[in-house]
Amino acid sequence: MATVVVATGNPGKLDELQAYLGDLGWHLQLKPGDLEIAETGTTFLENARLKASGVAQATGHWAIADDSGLQVDALKGAPGLYSARYAENDGARIARVLSELEGNVERGAQFVCALALARPDGTIALETQGICRGEILRAPRGQGGFGYDPIFYLPQLGQSFAELSPEQKRIHSHRGRAFQQLLPAFQQIRLD
Ligand code: IMP
Repeated sequence: MATVVVATGNPGKLDELQAYLGDLGWHLQLKPGDLEIAETGTTFLENARLKASGVAQATGHWAIADDSGLQVDALKGAPGLYSARYAENDGARIARVLSELEGNVERGAQFVCALALARPDGTIALETQGICRGEILRAPRGQGGFGYDPIFYLPQLGQSFAELSPEQKRIHSHRGRAFQQLLPAFQQIRLD
């Protein structure tokens, strides 16, 4: 079975990727704990490429990486690449976005997920970007998910990301879309 190293040290992320890639027969493995790849890119796609490439070269295996975040229209795309670092914790990050948008009627926003698969020599074999558009609520709603989920609302479903079941989120989310886009190519590729 071909090994694909996931460019994350987070076992939760490995489980999530397993849910998308489970049927491919790949053996997914966490990256070595001491291997850090600097995310110096200026776009989500550049960071996904850097992580996939760096982990592939360091381990000699195929590697898959994703990079994602929230872009708010009225904040000129912030928090964007800084989504994970916008404040100390999820609650504070949500509070910051809500306060920066206070009184603003323009609520449009999108989640973006870039995905890259690198060959063992570090070259990129496949890449894509999934986008999910929605609106920023005026107060958090829902208990599920993580990160900015409670303030990201999908008008077509009438629910926030935090109110979706994991299956619904897999269908509609930026990450789900990115994986759906690459799945046919993943099924074709020969990992040897
Ligand atoms: P990463 O690419 O998984 O490291 O995600 C970067 C940051 O973007 C996370 O720490 C979250 O703050 C935010 N983010 C990415 N995807 C989601 C999502 O599906 N829901 C909520 N927040 C997300």
